Amino acid sequence: MDTPICDFVNNYIKENSLRLHMPGHKGKELLGFEKYDITEVRGADCLYTAEGIIKKSEENAARLFGSSATFYSCEGSSLTVRAMLYLVKAYAISRGDESPYVLSGRNAHSSFVSGCALNDLEVKWLYPDESESYLSCRVTAEKLEKALGSVDKAPACVYITSPDYLGNMCDISALSGVCEKYGVPLVVDNAHGAYLKFLEKDLHPISLGAAMCADSAHKTLPALTGAGYLHISKGAPEFFKENARLALSLFGSTSPSYLILQSLDTVNKYIAEGYEKRLKDFAFALEKSAKKFPFIKQNEPLKLTLDTCKIGYRGGDFAKILEKKGIVCEFFDRDTLVLMLTPENGEDGIKRLFEILGEIEIKAPLAKEAHTIAPPRRIMSIREALFSPREQVKTENALGRALACANISCPPAVSPIVGGEEINQSVIDLCAYYGIDTLFVVK
Ligand SMILES: Cc1ncc(COP(=O)(O)O)c(C=O)c1O
Repeated sequence: MDTPICDFVNNYIKENSLRLHMPGHKGKELLGFEKYDITEVRGADCLYTAEGIIKKSEENAARLFGSSATFYSCEGSSLTVRAMLYLVKAYAISRGDESPYVLSGRNAHSSFVSGCALNDLEVKWLYPDESESYLSCRVTAEKLEKALGSVDKAPACVYITSPDYLGNMCDISALSGVCEKYGVPLVVDNAHGAYLKFLEKDLHPISLGAAMCADSAHKTLPALTGAGYLHISKGAPEFFKENARLALSLFGSTSPSYLILQSLDTVNKYIAEGYEKRLKDFAFALEKSAKKFPFIKQNEPLKLTLDTCKIGYRGGDFAKILEKKGIVCEFFDRDTLVLMLTPENGEDGIKRLFEILGEIEIKAPLAKEAHTIAPPRRIMSIREALFSPREQVKTENALGRALACANISCPPAVSPIVGGEEINQSVIDLCAYYGIDTLFVVK
């Protein structure tokens, strides 16, 4: 597979032109890679009006992912999520819906919440089952059917986060069947699942009936941080494809990183040249090792979720032990710890990880507290709350106040409550459990 963006940049470097354009480093090596960091000079194309090398490279990606069109993001899924929300709202308005809303699983990432504020979109939530962590929300076909069957007006889209931070995946194929029945586009936050396309059994949302999805290339493929895709499926309304570049340009920088574009370009070649086999072998080896450890869940092939309480550790304490032994995890909270692996870790990486896990003393299980959040009452919209004057208060003093905006950092950037909702006792209890000491409330 060709790499038109990389080829262009390599030729540009060879020409040794006097760079009288941005960026200010002029190709001089401070960190070592500056010569590759160009801007939209003639021939380099333009991300949001692409017609040349970027378009060609995106078409390569579209062929690999089986989409009708794939658009690059240099600002991760955070950008593509906001763009997707613009697209569903604009599409609904174009069909006569004057006040579109979105029906979403509750475990949506903060980019979804800020995207709703920026696009002035209302949300109806689908809540997780009582037994689930607030980071998960297993929306089943039955749950969705019940929700869509009971609303007065169809939503602009159904929005699902799958895989979630803990590696749980929804049955996208079943959900897309329900969405099709109700004529509603299914939109998926697949930030954690770009690689799913290349498994022996293709589990990518675009293959399973989603209208569009956001993938963070950088989370599971060997791409630079910030690299992402917006995929539009062959069955999706043409409107999405026709307006995707505009939608991305509304929220993205006018100076996209050519380092990231070259990275996405190279990843196409990497995928085309034997990735499926490398992924298959790696996933097989990982599953074989993980199976021997009953406290490890592997719902998603490249993610291990460790139930650390089961073996006597809080997630944070377990993370410290791993760090001392040279292993840095993706995420932990009080009860769990998440490890993300890719074929780039190699079978050596798997061996090293499981040798170390095998050395850790198994202790008596620790009690886990189940925290079910009583759905908070909506007082105002996410947008109204975000633009309201706010103050920071101690969580224990926030009962009955409206949340202004969530102050949950990444990872996991999923909040138990969103702006505009009334803080109830169950939210306060959950915040206390996770050590969230202060909240921003509307004044
Ligand atoms: C579920 C989910 N969606 C979206 C995002 C945003 O992705 P990015 O970091 O590529 O902007 C993240 C980031 O962690 C995420 O976990």
